[in-house]
Amino acid sequence: MARERWGSKLGVILAVAGSAIGLGNFLRFPGQAAQNGGGAFLIPYFVALFLLGLPMIWIEWTVGRFGGGFGHSTAPGMFHTLWNKNRFIKYFGVIGIFGPAVIFIYYIYVESWILGYAWFAVTGQLNACIEGRSFEQATLAMKDFLRGYQGAAPNEHFSGIGPAYLFFVLTFATNLLILYGGVQRGIEAVCKYGLPVLFVLGIVLMVRVFTIATPDPRKPDWNVVNGLGFLWNPDWSALGSGQVWLAAAGQIFFTLSVGFGVILTYASYLTPKDDVALSGLTAAAANEAAEVIIGGSIVIPAAFAFFGAAATAEIARAGTFDLGFVTMPLVLQRMAFSELLGLAWFLLLFVAGVTSSISLAQPAIAFLEDEFGLSKKEATLVFGLNTFTLCHGVIFFMGNGVMDELDFWGVNLCLVLFATVEIFLFAWVFGMDRAWTELHAGSDITIPPFYRWIIKYVTPAVLLTIFISWLVQGGFEKIFMMKDVPEKDFYYILGTRLALVAMFANLALLVRFAWKRRRSGEAAA
Ligand code: PHE
Repeated sequence: MARERWGSKLGVILAVAGSAIGLGNFLRFPGQAAQNGGGAFLIPYFVALFLLGLPMIWIEWTVGRFGGGFGHSTAPGMFHTLWNKNRFIKYFGVIGIFGPAVIFIYYIYVESWILGYAWFAVTGQLNACIEGRSFEQATLAMKDFLRGYQGAAPNEHFSGIGPAYLFFVLTFATNLLILYGGVQRGIEAVCKYGLPVLFVLGIVLMVRVFTIATPDPRKPDWNVVNGLGFLWNPDWSALGSGQVWLAAAGQIFFTLSVGFGVILTYASYLTPKDDVALSGLTAAAANEAAEVIIGGSIVIPAAFAFFGAAATAEIARAGTFDLGFVTMPLVLQRMAFSELLGLAWFLLLFVAGVTSSISLAQPAIAFLEDEFGLSKKEATLVFGLNTFTLCHGVIFFMGNGVMDELDFWGVNLCLVLFATVEIFLFAWVFGMDRAWTELHAGSDITIPPFYRWIIKYVTPAVLLTIFISWLVQGGFEKIFMMKDVPEKDFYYILGTRLALVAMFANLALLVRFAWKRRRSGEAAA
C-alpha cells in the first residue's frame, strides 16, 4: 500500500499550524499570562520558545520525515529506527500514541461545548441570561448556565446532560468524518479552508475589541489600552518564581503541539526531499502570531474595558474555561450585534479546536494502519469506538475531577518524558552530525550553527531541570500518593488511573504483537 502524502507544501504547514493553533492560543494563553506576571510572562515564554520549542519542532519534523521513509508514522517505529539495537525503546514510543489519545478524550468534549455555545449565542440564550443583571449576578448566571449544561446541577436552563451529549456526538462525528477522509482529502483540506477563516474571525474580533470606546465615562481608566497594559505591563518579580518559568515552558509545548507525538505523525507524510527546517519555523510563527497577537488581544483587554482591573484579575484567576464560556459572553453582550459576534467567537474556537483534535487522533489511527495493515475505514472505526466509549468517563464524571486527571497525565507527565527521550535519541544516539545533516536535507534555510549546541546540551538540560523541579514541587506526591485528591473523588481518580494503565498496557502489547508479526513475516520472506 502506498504511503499517504500531503498534497502541497502549504498544506502541511497549514495542517501543523492547525494542530498548534487551538484552545491553547485563545483561552489558555491569556489566562496563563495574566496569572503569571503579565508582561513578564513573555520573557520566560520567549526564552522557552527559543530554547525548547524551536529545537523540539525541528527534531520532530526531522524524525517524523525520517521515520516515514521507513514506513512508520508513529513513535514506536520511529524510535526503533533511530536506535535499532535497543529492544525497549519502542515501548517509550508508545507515549507518542497514548498521550495524544488521552488528550483527545477530553479535548473533544470541551470542543463540543463550543459548538453548543455557538448555538446558544445565535439563538440569544446567552444574552437572555445576562441582560438586566449586574456584572456579579451575570457572572454567576453564566457559571450556572455552564454547570447546568455540563449536567453538574440541573437548573432553569438545563434539566440534564441531553443537549451537551447531542453536541458531543455531533462534534465527535465531525472529527471522525475528517479523519476518515485521510491525510490529504480530510486533514489537509479542512486546514486549508479552516485556517484562513480562523485568522479572519480572529482579526475581526480583535479589531472590534480595539474599537471599544471607553464604555463608562465615570471610569475613564477602564479602557482597552489599559486592558492591554494589564496583560503586558511587566511584573518583574514574577521572573524570580520557578512556577512562572514552568508555566511558560508548559504553555510553549502545549501551544506548539510539540513533545506529544502528533508532529512526528504529520511529518511522516513528507517525502525525503521536502523541506522541514523552514516549514517547521513557518508553522511555529503562525502559531505565535495567533497566540501572542490575536489571543492576547481579545478576552482580557475587552474584559478590562468593561469590568475594570479588579474584576479582570478575578476573571484571570478563574481559569481557562471561564474566560471562554463565562467572560466572553458577558463582554459580547455589551456590544451591538452581539449574537453575530458571539457566533464569530465560538466559530473561531471551534475551527481552532477541530484542527487540533484531528491531529491528536491521527497517531493512533496511523499506528493501526501501518503496523497492522488496517484500512483507513477500519482504523478510524476502531479508534472511534474506543475513544467514544472512554469519553463517557469524562462526560459523566467531570465533577469528580476526571478531566483534570487526564490533563495531568496527558500533558504534564507524558510530555516531559517523551520530549526528553526524543531529544536524547536524536542528538545523542542518532548523533548530532547525522541529525544536523538530516535536518538540513532538502532544506530551504540554514539554521544558525549555535543551535547544534543548544539541541545537544541546552534543551536536554532544561528539560531535565523542568522534570526534576516538577517532581520536587509536588509531582512526585501527586503521582504516588494522590496528593490533593478530595476524598469524594478518590475512587473516580483511582478508576481513571487504572483505565489509563490498561490503555497504555494495551498499546504496549499491540506494539509487541506488531513487531512479532513483522519478524515472522520477514523470516517467511
Ligand atoms: N496546540 C493545541 C492548542 O493550543 C493543543 C494540542 C496539544 C494539540 C498537543 C495537539 C497536541 O490548543
